[in-house]
Amino acid sequence: MPGYEVLGEEEKKEILEVLETGVLFRYGFPAQRKGRYKVQEFEQKFAEFTGRKYALAVSSGSAALKVALAALGVGFGDEVITSGFTFVATWEAILECGAVPIFCDIDDTLNLDPGELSKKITPRTKAIIPVHMLGTQARIEAIMAVADQHHIPVIEDTAQACGGFIQGKALGSFGAIGTFSFDSVKTLTTGEGGMLIMDDPELYRRSSEYHDHGHDHIGPDRGLESRSFIGFNYRMMELQGALGLAQLSKLKKMIADQMAHKNRLKKILTGIKGIRFRELVDPDGDTATFLAFSLPDENKTRALKDLGKKLWLGLVYFYENGWHYYRNWEHLLLQKTACRNGWPFQVENNIRNLTYPQDLLTRTDKRMACLLVLPINVRMDEEVFKKTEQLVVEANRI
Ligand SMILES: Cc1ncc(COP(=O)(O)O)c(C=O)c1O
Repeated sequence: MPGYEVLGEEEKKEILEVLETGVLFRYGFPAQRKGRYKVQEFEQKFAEFTGRKYALAVSSGSAALKVALAALGVGFGDEVITSGFTFVATWEAILECGAVPIFCDIDDTLNLDPGELSKKITPRTKAIIPVHMLGTQARIEAIMAVADQHHIPVIEDTAQACGGFIQGKALGSFGAIGTFSFDSVKTLTTGEGGMLIMDDPELYRRSSEYHDHGHDHIGPDRGLESRSFIGFNYRMMELQGALGLAQLSKLKKMIADQMAHKNRLKKILTGIKGIRFRELVDPDGDTATFLAFSLPDENKTRALKDLGKKLWLGLVYFYENGWHYYRNWEHLLLQKTACRNGWPFQVENNIRNLTYPQDLLTRTDKRMACLLVLPINVRMDEEVFKKTEQLVVEANRI
């Protein structure tokens, strides 16, 4: 999964080019920087790669979501729909804007269920954030159809699926905005970092200005004239841009290597009685970062999880995971906030009356209780394949 496995000469060369100029800031310093604009170049290449007109690099995937919501004008009183199986950042970004996350069940793709989506839409819904979880596609075309019918913009959280496609169209390029993460465990990594992609010039201008303290970005370089709204600092710096350029050039190969490992492991695991693999919208466009599968019931799933632990095989049981699953987000369910007056959950006269019951997503609970996930690496030790074979033998004795 992580691009850190392939850090090498290409990254060193790009980084040295930045250090030679001494310019770490993405804007300005034209005399010193010898024509090197690494973040800008990374954006251009990323836009090309994903087939969108604009790309804006930011400081993280979390920042990308916040900037996207701000660009769409989402704020206090608004509702944003997302799935209950995602990384905490997806709904943190919604709360950061003062809006309210509304959670939707997932389907066999383990991503937002388009069939459930319309039930969650209210007059307050101002955005929908489907997440391409664990490296592969949500039913984005069906989700877009529902969203378009209600004229609600879609932000695709593609943090975990950079380099994924559906019939050749890049994940992240279906909705109004696509967001990406390049944190230290992502396939394409810049240590910390993120990206937004879009086609609409006005959304791009708003995103670009918001991520840079609201400075006007009208001319060829960063404008210093005035500001049309308040922003914040979510900028990426040149060293990250340099890393991004080197890593982007390796992305296809990394995914191809992961795919070979995934196919091999899948073939081995097919030997487990009753196993069902996650549904893939387009298997050829999978980024192959994880192999997700289900067993017929929770007892069998837990037994296999324990076997995996015994064999030191890193199976993840997301049902019990505190970072990625609704029922374990106790701070959200209890509406705990760092703010003394309870914002953004509490507002004057408590007009929100928000509730997040633990059993809100019963259909998702059923799926998650029977789900196990094997992380896939770019480089995989033969030991993993041997242990997986052993797992199959022992699993069929349960
Ligand atoms: C689905 C999802 N969204 C957003 C993020 C946030 O990205 P970052 O860690 O770069 O802030 C992550 C990070 O893992 C993620 O998995």
